[in-house]
Amino acid sequence: MIWSVVSYLSSGARERQVLRSVDDVLELLAACDGVFDAPPPEGDPVDLLAHGLQCAEVLRECCPDDLGLHLAGLVHDLGHALSAAHTGRDHGEVAADAVRQVLGQRVARLVALHVPAKRYLAATDQSYGLSPASVASLARQGAGMDEAEQAAFLTLPEAQDALALRHADDEAKVVGRQVPGLDVWAPRLRLYVDTLQ
Ligand SMILES: [Fe+2]
Repeated sequence: MIWSVVSYLSSGARERQVLRSVDDVLELLAACDGVFDAPPPEGDPVDLLAHGLQCAEVLRECCPDDLGLHLAGLVHDLGHALSAAHTGRDHGEVAADAVRQVLGQRVARLVALHVPAKRYLAATDQSYGLSPASVASLARQGAGMDEAEQAAFLTLPEAQDALALRHADDEAKVVGRQVPGLDVWAPRLRLYVDTLQ
């Protein structure tokens, strides 16, 4: 199923793994309907589109004035749908590289940091609860951060927003949850990109 998304991209886009317009972002998100990050039982129970929409909505509820953060939540897992993620690269970095040209450096940084934020929380928050899929992937991602890594993470200007994204990410796996769709997010996405010009 994942490869059906990869094949959606033109051959040039597959090689570049870079999205060049808002329409590219929206088309790839739409193509994630029914696509899962990994086969069961390791994968999450909602598809990549539902997961991104839920994540964006959780962030809108918690941080209503930060549209860039909402959009980072919307696109944070697009790396799972790009073939570079199947070559051993971290899916957060793959997604960040894909969206940077359209959504700018801050959103790309937040997207890239959603995996390190998980490693930070796994090491520092005893109450941090992960889904079975996230527990399984944590070991591959480097397990919890050591103290030096934690200190370095906290120096990043996006650290607190990345942690908010990570918490939203972990909440955004509810089967059947009704949240605004791409039709609602499309004008918000265009509005945000206009502010970057
Ligand atoms: Fe996610």
